[in-house]
Amino acid sequence: MCGIVGVIGTVNTKEMLIDGLKKLEYRGYDSAGVFINGNQGSHLVKEVGKIAKLEDAISNEVGGTMGIGHTRWATHGKPTVENAHPHFSSDERFYLVHNGVITNYEQLKETYLSGIEFASQTDTEVVVQLVSYFANQGMTTLEAFKQTISLLEGSYAFALADKENPEQIFVAKNKSPLLLGIGEDFNALCSDAMAMINYTNQFVELHDGEIVILEADNYEIYDQSGVAIERSPYEVDLDPKEISKGTYDYYMLKEIDEQPGVIRRISEFYLSDEQVNLDEDLLNKMATAKQIYIVAAGTSYHAGLVGKRIIEELTDIPVNVELASEFGYHLPKLIDESFFIFLSQSGETADSRQVLVKINEMNLPSLTVTNVKDSTLWREATYQMQLLAGPEIAVASTKAYVAQIAVQAVIAKVLGDHLNNATAKQLDLREELSLAANGIQAIVDQKDDIEKLSYEFFTNQNHAFYIGRGMDYALCLEAALKLKEISYIHTEGFAAGELKHGTISLIEDKTPVIAYLNDQNTTGLTRGNIEEVQARGAHVLVISNQDDAQSDDQIVCFTINELLQPLISVVPAQLLAYYASLQRGNDVDQPRSLAKSVTVE
Ligand code: G6P
Repeated sequence: MCGIVGVIGTVNTKEMLIDGLKKLEYRGYDSAGVFINGNQGSHLVKEVGKIAKLEDAISNEVGGTMGIGHTRWATHGKPTVENAHPHFSSDERFYLVHNGVITNYEQLKETYLSGIEFASQTDTEVVVQLVSYFANQGMTTLEAFKQTISLLEGSYAFALADKENPEQIFVAKNKSPLLLGIGEDFNALCSDAMAMINYTNQFVELHDGEIVILEADNYEIYDQSGVAIERSPYEVDLDPKEISKGTYDYYMLKEIDEQPGVIRRISEFYLSDEQVNLDEDLLNKMATAKQIYIVAAGTSYHAGLVGKRIIEELTDIPVNVELASEFGYHLPKLIDESFFIFLSQSGETADSRQVLVKINEMNLPSLTVTNVKDSTLWREATYQMQLLAGPEIAVASTKAYVAQIAVQAVIAKVLGDHLNNATAKQLDLREELSLAANGIQAIVDQKDDIEKLSYEFFTNQNHAFYIGRGMDYALCLEAALKLKEISYIHTEGFAAGELKHGTISLIEDKTPVIAYLNDQNTTGLTRGNIEEVQARGAHVLVISNQDDAQSDDQIVCFTINELLQPLISVVPAQLLAYYASLQRGNDVDQPRSLAKSVTVE
């Protein structure tokens, strides 16, 4: 989703902006632009497509001591140069980049800007035209910016440049993520720390409603009522090497390969020999819960479905898994002993955040499990746990999914032990996680075979199904999402027994049906469902495990404790999706229309 960078100082602004925008590419975007200002004049450059294209379009003469840049993921208006940011006022004095959505922009346009000719179809242009409108009435830039912000409804992270004042960048934040980066010869702003980690590891968080005046060697933060806020930088522990692709063509394959290491890291960190590394308060609070809600979106929601079963089995506490975008606006009656787990790779998903805001208003306890320390969901929850997956760059989530399952298993095991749950006591989680890491490794070692299967099953196919029961059904939802989001093959994850109640009519000659067979109670039933689809011409690929395998199953995973089996069994689906996307010539890491960090509702 949209990404913002800004730099001011005695540095190579252009290079830092372009590098920052490249680091934000992973978030997903369709156009990009920069505005650079300094003693030698100002420059606005915008392009549709990749940052490399923008870089080529910026001539060597362009330079300056301040600049703002943006990657746009279209919400209002098509991806065109006109709609790309930075947007500017008609008098070409003010330039603005924006992440978020202004919901009352049409009303504001009508009320204040009826005489203005607009260059774009965006909500953002209304904001920059309003700043100019108020400045033309005699306000200073800061006053005009504040006045504009007071009229806005919706979400925003803004960086505003005034061509007549290259010494300052004006910044504001509400709901959309934004950080300041503090350097030796510069100060910066960015949607996430990754954008500036090559230049500094010192960052300052911003809260909703705050406005900042950013200068080369100073930053002033003001809250909504204009009171100055003192806030020191914190150190971000992110190794720039971790965000490099190394020898891989795509981040997705690198991240799939990293999964055994991620599982081992989680086990070592949370379940080391000497002690269990889980917050005592968190444990006590969860132990009093009578109902746990897991709130998430996308792949994280699918990881929650697996987590529900693990937590219920090991703790006996009922768990509901909720889609954040639905739950927040249709809250059920909540009991006081409810406990909320927010699962989120990015820690920034707007859908999840709106639920957390409501939960906080109700004074209910929450835990955010995320890959990004200090992200919004991290900061605003009562308790925090890190996924420890390392930066995930490919839009299609892989290692964060397995990390989410593993961390939920840690929570379930430690809580279950604390509650004297017999199943928890019997589970040797360190051992199972170690077996899971080995099992994943065995699958990634079979990449070449899985590549062939992917070509055999998906070439020239536009529809596919994953079927399974129990935990395998949860797995099917994730497997189907992986395949459809990067290959664009329409894929559905289905409960194997449900297919015959309507959807089986879609099975035609050679329709790929991938069946998961790990659920020991229902193996026979699912084998029966395989027969049914085969009788209608389906081309069936079976993913089973050593205990349940038949001789003609194409992919057989190591068997581990049933509750943890998805950690291994998801990996063939990740690889099948990867190769299907590759074969179709798609951009595996940045599939069309998708964003890594979805900061609008
Ligand atoms: C986007 C990403 C998905 C992700 C979902 C939830 O749609 O493309 O990969 O699962 O957001 O994101 P989160 O960061 O909250 O896990």
